[in-house]
This record gives sequence, structure tokens and C-alpha cells, in this order.
Amino acid sequence: MNILLLGSGGREHALAWKIAQSSKLNQLFIAPGNPGTANLGTNLAFAADNFEAIKSAVLEHHIHLVLVGPEDPLVKGVVDFFRADSTIRHIPVIGPDKFGAQLEGSKDFSKKFMFRHNIPTARYLSVTSKNIDAGIAFLSTLQAPFVLKADGLAAGKGVLILNDLQETIIELKAMLDGKFGAASQTVVIEEFLAGIECSVFVITDGEHYKILPEAKDYKRIGEGDKGLNTGGMGAVSPVPFADAAFMQKVESRIIRPTVEGLRSEGVNYKGFIFFGLIKVNGEPYTIEYNARMGDPETEVVMLRLQSDFVDLLQGVADGNLHEKVIEFDSRTAVTVMLVSGGYPEDYEKGKVISGLELVDNSIVFHAGTAQKDGNLVTNGGRVMAVSSYGDTKENALKQSFSNAKRIRFDGVYFRSDIGFDL
Ligand code: AMP
Ligand code: GLY
Repeated sequence: MNILLLGSGGREHALAWKIAQSSKLNQLFIAPGNPGTANLGTNLAFAADNFEAIKSAVLEHHIHLVLVGPEDPLVKGVVDFFRADSTIRHIPVIGPDKFGAQLEGSKDFSKKFMFRHNIPTARYLSVTSKNIDAGIAFLSTLQAPFVLKADGLAAGKGVLILNDLQETIIELKAMLDGKFGAASQTVVIEEFLAGIECSVFVITDGEHYKILPEAKDYKRIGEGDKGLNTGGMGAVSPVPFADAAFMQKVESRIIRPTVEGLRSEGVNYKGFIFFGLIKVNGEPYTIEYNARMGDPETEVVMLRLQSDFVDLLQGVADGNLHEKVIEFDSRTAVTVMLVSGGYPEDYEKGKVISGLELVDNSIVFHAGTAQKDGNLVTNGGRVMAVSSYGDTKENALKQSFSNAKRIRFDGVYFRSDIGFDL
């Protein structure tokens, strides 16, 4: 089978790494990919949301299946683009169509969906410039801290958590006035939930589903979960507090109603559902959905997946996922993200990376790297994810931390407390 993978980050390198292990794979192409994926397949130099270029590549390279890494192509309708074109209509694309991708692309859509299907989540009110007064009245019924969310995609910056009511009202107005552009024309006001978060992933063919290993992601830049939000500084799987009793509740109250809810509403959802969950007094609540795998969670989930990933993707495409067996490695997998100095604020690119040859017994997934003048250089905020197995979480982390120290570039930073709270 020839596969085209869309995307260019650490998640896509990890997906490519797992795909490349499949006996069902003939050729792997990645668009645009990165220097890490170039070692596993053929990188194609076009953006993951360049639909015409994707079509040309699919026809030229006789692609049998397309896997979408990031949310952007999904929210922009790459699945609908394939379905509307008779020359590529028959080629499966793993990911939801534009309508289904609203689970991630619109917070208002996802909250309405959760309420329709009795899926536990925070109480909320959606506000536009037409009902600001109702928004302020709703805020007044809540206790601090207050949660404001831009309805649309805002590059991970669209959620504000504020302690002061007056400041929250000012921010609400600023958001409705275009603080995050069109993404905040609608704002979701939510009740704050206090608990501990984890990410649960499901792959579905629209009818059946398989639960992938759960993971905990570390979003803040600073140790002890302090400072600005990032794309994710590290991850651990399994998550000790996501024990069997908790996962049972997650499946019966959240996963099954979500998959059945999509199906009952006629949504064409063949792909991943990422459940951002919070455990409050032992009970699971849904914070958010994403229509794709997480990054850096994929860098640990793929390590723990033992089954043939391409076979699972084939099951999604064919609608017979229930006939597939899914098995996991019982070891702990962790990843530690090396980032550019200054990230998630301004940072410089183009720093020469050295020391990769010293890495021993970890798998280094490239996130933001490039080849320049014969050197491997930094090309993004998140640069590399150093991923390791261990018989315990501590041993896996020891491995990743010691290898993280061997990789050098000007300004390199990583959190040396990943997993500290587990
Ligand atoms: P989201 O983009 O909806 O996942 O929100 C980003 C982050 O904000 C989440 O990962 C949580 O840490 C936090 N957050 C969002 N909604 C809530 C809530 N209702 N209660 C507490 N924390 C929240
Ligand atoms: N690690 C969180 C995300 O991928 O959105």
C-alpha cells in the first residue's frame, strides 16, 4: 500500500515511524514532512492544506490511503475535497469531513453536541455581540476563575482563564470585538473545573472504535506547570490516575456516546477523536475534542501501540475496525520536548543541532528542524521530542533526560520535571 501522510511535526514523525514498521506498506510519502520523516519515506514539498497539490501527488504516486496529521486540512475540508472529485473519490482519507471536524473547529458546536448527548462537560453559555448582557449575567452566576474560549481555531491561544470578574468582562468584550479575529466572534463562557487532565484517543470507522493508550501532556513552558502555554513540552503514557475504573467511566459516559452521537446525527467520521479530559473527584468530564491525534502525545502513543498501524487504518477505511486486534506495550513511554530559547514567545531559528549521534536508547522525533547548508538546524519553537521506554516511568524519564542533555543547540531548553505529578 502507498500512503500519503500530511503534516510536518513531531506527531507526523511518530506516525511515519509507526507506519514504516508495517508489512503492508509499500511506499510512504509525507507532505511536507521534516528531516526526520525524510529517513522513513519521501518528503513532498507542499503544504498539508494545499488541496490541489495533494490531489496531484495522490494521482502521481498511486496513493491508496491518506492520513491527515494536523487539524487545519480537516477543518478546511480536505475530506470533502476528495469526496467531491471523481478522480480521487475512491481514495480513503483518515480524518473527519469538514462538518465532523467542527468538534475541534468550533467550541460552540462541540459544547452543543456534548449537551445533546448528555456527555459530562462544564456548564457554558455561547455569547456573540448580540447577547453580551446574557453573557455578563451568566458570568455573575459563576465562581472565579472564569473561563473564556474563542469559538474558532486560534492557534492554541484562544482560551483565557481569569480570576477577576471585571477583567473577564473587559476580555469578553475584547474577544467579541475581534481580539482573535473571526475565531472570537462567538465566545464560549464556561464554568471552571478543578481537577487533573489527561488525553484519551480513539480511532473510529464511524461505527466501531478502538481506544488507544491514554497520555498526559505537559502544556506549560515552566517547571511545576508554571508560565505560558505551549503546544506541549512532554508526555507520559500510561497515566496512573486513568485507572481501569476511571477508563470504564470514560468509555461508557464519553467515548461511546460521542461515537454513537456522531453516527446517529449522520456525521461521516472516520478518523481520530482526541478527548481532552479532566478528572474531578474521580469523575471524568470533557474539556475539549480534537479531530486529530495530539502532539506530543502521539510521540508516546505510537511507542506503545504494538499492532500494525496500517492494518488499523485499513480497518477505518473499510469499516471493519471491529475485526482488528489492538495491542499495547505494557511499558511506560515518555517524551521530552527540546524547544528553542524564548519559545513560546519570540525565538530564533537556524541554530545548528549537534549530538544526535550520542543518543543511546531513545527515539528522537523531529518537530521543528530543517536541513541547511549540510547542517541540521532548528526551524520552530518545538524542535525535537526525545522518546523512551522504561519498565517504570522513572526509568523511561531517566533515559529521555540523559539523552536530551546530549543534544545541543544554541538556546536549547527542556522541562526536566515531565511526569513530576504522576
Ligand atoms: P481547550 O482549548 O478547551 O482544551 O482549553 C485549553 C486548556 O484550558 C485546557 O487544557 C485546560 O487546562 C484549560 N481549561 C479549559 N476549559 C476549562 C474548564 N472549563 N475548567 C478548567 N480548565 C479549563
Ligand atoms: N498536546 C495537545 C494537543 O495536541 O492539542
